[in-house]
Amino acid sequence: MDLRIQELEAYAREYHIPIMMKDGISFMLSYIKENHVKKILEIGAAIGYSAICMCLVDEGIHVTTVEREEERYQEALKNIKKFHLEDRITIYYQDAFSLDLKEEYDFIFIDAAKSQYIRFFEKFTPLLKAGGVVFSDNLNFHGLTHTTEPILSRNVRGLVRKLNNYIVFLKENPNFETYFYDIGDGISVSKKKA
Ligand SMILES: C[S@@+](CC[C@H](N)C(=O)[O-])C[C@H]1O[C@@H](n2cnc3c(N)ncnc32)[C@H](O)[C@@H]1O
Repeated sequence: MDLRIQELEAYAREYHIPIMMKDGISFMLSYIKENHVKKILEIGAAIGYSAICMCLVDEGIHVTTVEREEERYQEALKNIKKFHLEDRITIYYQDAFSLDLKEEYDFIFIDAAKSQYIRFFEKFTPLLKAGGVVFSDNLNFHGLTHTTEPILSRNVRGLVRKLNNYIVFLKENPNFETYFYDIGDGISVSKKKA
């Protein structure tokens, strides 16, 4: 394992930056490798950890990503430079909903505000090629989307309801075939039909 990747993981732990869990990221990287994914759009860069890991799978990979928090964006920029990936990672400092992208992607990774997953999906999937996939992370929300126990915090209850709505939305979407995996914090892979 690249020592610099371990440094990013240590930084995320120290400053409580929510990056992908280890088994979640290795599942996603294997998918990218096995399916020869080349053009990736990520929503939610944080410090650039997952974008960098995805780029390191293959030299032909390009990642476009976006982050709306300035401190995280600045840290991501630093990290991208540290890995000499400036030519292969395009990062925007803005709200994803104000992005105006025109290119097509083979792979979209949704890993930003959990309350907005349906909106992210609807905004960005027109850019996905037929046969391309949308990966979404945190669908288990630390086990809370499956719990039968009462959830005390109103905020958390709201998020769990929205994530459960997203899961139903994916299951019922006629244009996508979705598979759910109990890996990391819960991942879905939605394949766009031809
Ligand atoms: C879970 S973290 C991303 C982790 C990153 N994908 C990784 O695994 O290394 C989610 C990030 O999305 C950002 N975010 C949330 N909503 C956003 C939005 N609407 N536009 C841009 N960034 C957003 C947050 O500021 C946060 O840093």
